[in-house]
Amino acid sequence: MIKRRSFLSLLGKGAAGTILLPSLYIGCRNRVSELTTVASDRMNQLKSIVLKGMKPISSDNVELAEGLSYKTLVKWMDPISDADTFGFNNDFTCFIPLSDNGDDGLLWVNHEATNPIFVSKYKRGDDRTIEQVQKEMYSVGGSIIRVKKVDDNWQIIHNDPYNRRITAQTELAINWDTPIMGKTTIIGTHSNCSGGITPWGTILTCEENYQDYYGETVYDQNNNAIHQRSYAAWEDFYNYPAEHYGWVVEIDPLTGKGMKHIALGRFCHECCTLVELEDKRVVAYSGDDANDEFIYKFISSKPGSLKEGTLYVADTVNGKWISLDYEKQPALQEKFKNQTEVLIRAREAARLVGASPQDRPEDIEIDPITGHVVIALTNNKPKNQYHGTILKLIETDNQYDSLSFTTEALATGGKESGFSCPDNLVFDLAGNLWFTSDISGGSMNNPKVTEYLEFKNNGLFVVLRHGEEAGKVIQIASAPMDAEFTGPWFSPDYKTLFLSVQHPGGNSSSLNQLTSTWPHDEDGLPKPSVITIEGDLLEKLNFLDKFQ
Ligand code: FEO
Ligand code: CA
Ligand code: CA
Ligand code: CA
Repeated sequence: MIKRRSFLSLLGKGAAGTILLPSLYIGCRNRVSELTTVASDRMNQLKSIVLKGMKPISSDNVELAEGLSYKTLVKWMDPISDADTFGFNNDFTCFIPLSDNGDDGLLWVNHEATNPIFVSKYKRGDDRTIEQVQKEMYSVGGSIIRVKKVDDNWQIIHNDPYNRRITAQTELAINWDTPIMGKTTIIGTHSNCSGGITPWGTILTCEENYQDYYGETVYDQNNNAIHQRSYAAWEDFYNYPAEHYGWVVEIDPLTGKGMKHIALGRFCHECCTLVELEDKRVVAYSGDDANDEFIYKFISSKPGSLKEGTLYVADTVNGKWISLDYEKQPALQEKFKNQTEVLIRAREAARLVGASPQDRPEDIEIDPITGHVVIALTNNKPKNQYHGTILKLIETDNQYDSLSFTTEALATGGKESGFSCPDNLVFDLAGNLWFTSDISGGSMNNPKVTEYLEFKNNGLFVVLRHGEEAGKVIQIASAPMDAEFTGPWFSPDYKTLFLSVQHPGGNSSSLNQLTSTWPHDEDGLPKPSVITIEGDLLEKLNFLDKFQ
């Protein structure tokens, strides 16, 4: 067991940086002061390096731009120990180094969603068994896996004592003084989409489309609660309240213990991006990924607390953060009983105080060079916003606890820029912004949805930061049929990009009518997997040694 102090130094905390804690967001080592120097020194050299992207492709493979190659690290159903197997539909990944040279560590992986066709073999209309539901519950949550680089190959360490699964049946604490629906612990996490890490070395895994598993509680005009049924219908087998899901969940990767952070509000959390202030209080940004939902931030009032503090929601029309503090908002006092109810019904509370509807906020990252808060807004089809935007939110004086801000577009999706539907974001060592696209399975390559046809399969893109082509977007990878890339995360030396390939073949109507067979195993089943991408192009973009 490594001690917290050495763990933090592995994460680079406390090292010099021009902006507070950007190292946590560009990887696990703080090289930000180097970064700005390197970037300016190398700009001229970069002009002579051709950074070639690729054209959109529809193929059932991971296709890469010239100068990159990939290996599959771990796939759905792979044993990670004698007791556990890797889960389904992997999303957020995070590498936590356990060695000084960064070639040995723990990989956290989110498992966002199940798919009965593959996981439980349940077919709609058939009788359903509890064993089928239990298989689905095991397929979501997260995986912790020890990985090491041996002879230039990343490998999973089978049966490492750290290897474990978190699932929809794992018992979790709540970080709140009042029980939630009468309980002080909650069974399970699911819908784990993107996430984040904390300055104290734990993982944040975010419950996004929670309504798909135990439904949702909605309220009529008289404020009477009504249960809205879920798609997966787990509530037919387990009597867990909808209010137990839709939270940010913190997991200690060394112990597997976890808790749900009630103070951060309940909604379809895409991600949770933490910034630590000089006085050690934290600010947590999170987006609610649904049409016309909101961007939130929590500002703690005590060092390192995700419980004591205030939740705010963004008014992007007036550039203000609006408090969701029950004591300070008469409109909330009229509708809700107390702060706990405000947090459980955060969407309604946000609407009530005048929050600005957004185009499906997805991932959020802090720009390591400017300190701006960068937010992917993926699309809003009912408003004819098909291609999305990457937004910059500039806090007043770059103070993350400021209550005012401005916004401007960093990149706009569409034909001209060559991308559509931005989702996950990650900055590299040189400050280039890498992002994945998420054109939904039903729209991608669908002749009836002409807006997306030219973009073909989902991909991985980079907004170039330096040189004559600064601001240009290039595509550098293309996902297999129906899949999206998710969870981009760099290794500490920036030579490897860990990347999830989620829902290949997700549109398959049955095992006999598969739309993908990637990664082309003998059993012919499509398998969500984590891959590692390496190569000269990645090293050029990062200004790594051999290109300096
Ligand atoms: Fe799970 Fe909003 O993507
Ligand atoms: Ca996402
Ligand atoms: Ca991210
Ligand atoms: Ca998405």
